[in-house]
Parts: sequence; C-alpha cells; structure tokens
Amino acid sequence: MVFTLAIDGPAAAGKGTISKAVAAHFGYAHLDTGLLYRAVGQRMLAGEEPIEAARSLAAEDLEHPDLRTVEAAQAASKVAVIPEVRAALLDFQRTFAQRMGGAVLDGRDIGTVICPNADVKLYVTASDEARAGRRHKELQERGRDISFETVLAELQERDARDSARSEAPLKPADDAVLLDTSDLSIDEAVARAVAEIEKKTHA
Ligand code: DC
Repeated sequence: MVFTLAIDGPAAAGKGTISKAVAAHFGYAHLDTGLLYRAVGQRMLAGEEPIEAARSLAAEDLEHPDLRTVEAAQAASKVAVIPEVRAALLDFQRTFAQRMGGAVLDGRDIGTVICPNADVKLYVTASDEARAGRRHKELQERGRDISFETVLAELQERDARDSARSEAPLKPADDAVLLDTSDLSIDEAVARAVAEIEKKTHA
C-alpha cells in the first residue's frame, strides 16, 4: 500500500515530534526533509558550493553530528532558496513518498510541491513564543547557552526567508488541515494528527 502523509509548517512547530509519533503509530516510514537541507547547509559551512553538495549528498552526510545546531538551521534555510539545490533533492523525496507501507514526510513544501497528491496533508503551526520556548528548552537541554530572545529572532528570521522565497515557499496547501499546537501537549497534538489520518483512511 502506498500512503503518503505530508506534514508542513514553520520551524519548531512540532512537525518532527508529530511525524515520528504518527509514523510509529501506523508503522509508516518517516523522512525529515529538513535534515537534507541541513546536510547541504553543513557542507556549505565546510566550504563547499551548495549546488554541488546537494547533487552529491550521501547517506553519511545525514549523520553529521552538528545538523541540529542553530548554525546548520540557518545555513539550511539559505541553501533552500537556491532552485538547483531544491531540484537536486526532489527525486529522493518523491521516491521515499512512494515506498510501500506508508510514508510520512515533514518539511515546508511537501503538500504543495513534493507530494501535491498526498493522502493527508497537515499544516502544523504554533505561536512564535510557543515555538521559541520549545526550541530554547531543547537547546538548553543539549547544553547550549543561548537566550530565549536569540532563539526567537533566529526562528523568525528563518520563517521570513522560508516564506518569502520564490521557489516552493513555506505555505499551507489549499487542502491541508491546520493544526495549531500552541496550547496542545505532545500527546494531544499527536492524537489530533492520528484522528485526521483515521478520518481519511476510513472514509
Ligand atoms: O525543518 P527544519 O527546521 O530542520 O528545516 C531547516 C531548513 O531547511 C528550513 O528553515 C528551510 C529548509 N527546508 C526547506 O526549505 N524545505 C523543506 N521541505 C524542509 C526544510
């Protein structure tokens, strides 16, 4: 069975957590597409030309220990503006989406560009403060000494760039279900996502 779930939304809205939990719940494979852009961004930070880095991206690039840093996130958002970088990553994502047994992809343009025919599309959002608060906590838990204000400014800068680019900007697909996680616990957010999928699969 091919079943594709597209989960898009701004940085730190809860897409990753929801995607992992939903994939585990239904036994689907999960692809965090942000990781692809972070890996290209990381290679750019190491001095490579981003289009070449995207064209030669390898599995081990996704294992780089620094991909979850603020610097890699910013570099990802910058390389993600380049159409040739996006084009180089397209086939891998579409092939993943078509795998048997179901696939969850999370990112910015999954429901709009990568998988416009996805079976279910969710657009996960949360207030800027809620998102920055969560990301701040996560970074602190990893031992990173960074202020809430710096995290908030980083997220807002990245969202502005991701939304303003001409190629595959961050925006909800017309047929996406909106899920605002500002006032939801992880369990509540996952339960809503599961309910949306069950609605579609039992329809
Ligand atoms: O989801 P994330 O925060 O790890 O993504 C990092 C950056 O990668 C994000 O700011 C923009 C880019 N990105 C993208 O342009 N398209 C995607 N499908 C996923 C991420």
